Amino acid sequence: MDTTHSGHNGLDDIFGEPVAKVHQRYAAYVNHRFARVIELIGFKRVFTRAEGAWLWDQEGDRYLDFLGGYSVCNVGRNHPRVKQALIDWLERDGASLVQMDCSPLAARLGEELAQLTPGDLNTCLFTNSGSETTEVALKMARKATRQPRILYADLGFHGLTYGALAVSDHDMWREGFEPLLPGCEKVPFDDLDALERELAKRDVAAFITEPIQGEAGVRVPSDSYLPEAARLCRKYGALLVVDEIQTGFGRTGRWFACNHWGVEPDIMLLSKALSGGYVPVGAVVTRRSVFDKMFEDLRHAAVHTTTFGGNAMAMIAALVTIEVMKDENIVEHAASAGATLMEGIRQLASRFEMVKDVRGKGLMIGIEFGEPRSLRLKAGWKLVHRAEGLFGQMIAIPLMRDHRILTQVAGHNLDVHKLAPPLIIGQDEVDYFLHAYQAVLTDLHRFPGPLWDLGMTLLKNSISW
Ligand SMILES: Cc1ncc(COP(=O)(O)O)c(C=O)c1O
Repeated sequence: MDTTHSGHNGLDDIFGEPVAKVHQRYAAYVNHRFARVIELIGFKRVFTRAEGAWLWDQEGDRYLDFLGGYSVCNVGRNHPRVKQALIDWLERDGASLVQMDCSPLAARLGEELAQLTPGDLNTCLFTNSGSETTEVALKMARKATRQPRILYADLGFHGLTYGALAVSDHDMWREGFEPLLPGCEKVPFDDLDALERELAKRDVAAFITEPIQGEAGVRVPSDSYLPEAARLCRKYGALLVVDEIQTGFGRTGRWFACNHWGVEPDIMLLSKALSGGYVPVGAVVTRRSVFDKMFEDLRHAAVHTTTFGGNAMAMIAALVTIEVMKDENIVEHAASAGATLMEGIRQLASRFEMVKDVRGKGLMIGIEFGEPRSLRLKAGWKLVHRAEGLFGQMIAIPLMRDHRILTQVAGHNLDVHKLAPPLIIGQDEVDYFLHAYQAVLTDLHRFPGPLWDLGMTLLKNSISW
């Protein structure tokens, strides 16, 4: 592929192709169902450029990114320092993936993560994705404890590979793929009695949970939950696995969500924002004593490896991303920008009866909608809820169509609208969003009105989300 010229097959050529043609090719050779969904919700664009919290399409129109690549772009898209470090590496013709060596880059990142993560989590294993990171934790917990059962929280999400799916709770993901990994059992989130009942059977290898549930609609547990869960796990000999894949690296206004409650898990799962939105990466961080039970002797020195784990591009991107986060005080900024944004949404919420809750921490925010009291709106609400997931699209679609703001509906709780912008957003972006949100909420509370017409059209098309 000639990427330097605008000739055939060059990047200019690829990104300059009309959107209809791109979609046609994608539908023909990649995922035609997904292409159809993108079309139906009116998100059909080719994005050609990105910077910070903004995206640009082929027409030169600018979009505010409140999705952040699914919480990946915490330091902002195409951060110049991360980009330059990767260019420097490519120009160096360095040696990556030698495999039979101890990578100096992995060594540095391991040391850095050991210092950043709480307590005596001091040993790292690198992977390439969130799901893969979950897989490692499940294997590690079973081998370290030699116990069979793994507990997971209801509505939790840890990825879609087989092991991860077995500890993720939603029928849509699971249906047709059973039998899943045996021994995985669900406990209600934020319910310590239920957790203790299961742990007390003393056959549990691990309890895995997100500290704040993302896909479930930004569910924040009560303050005692995680510290007590950690204590109970210790008491009954199970490992606490905290999945910070989404919440980590400043998303919630602390380096890790665990820091809000002073919790020190036995295994912490990291991925997504770790490499600044550039390179797939994942890391399992644990205590040396847990690690040693899995990598028990020299024969087992590589009992879990993956070809690309610890590759140079991922390690460099991660090292520089962490440096940028420290130098630019991105964690502190996320806390204050998140507080301003949440306060602004709460003020709006008080004027709109369908907004039932605004919750989250830092820049991980969920806005929950609920059945209205007024009769007209109630009728509309009931109608659109005949199709699962449709209501949330009545917010995401106009935000994109009329205001060029990219957002998503929470994965499992479809009446929750979720915000996860890059953590570098400033007052301008907050104001831009609040202004647009007010307009969309105003339209939404007008029945009949154009947004309800949109809902009815979607319903008539019998779209099942
Ligand atoms: C909390 C959590 N765990 C695990 C995963 C899976 O990560 P990946 O999509 O990289 O496999 C996700 C992805 O959204 C996530 O949010």
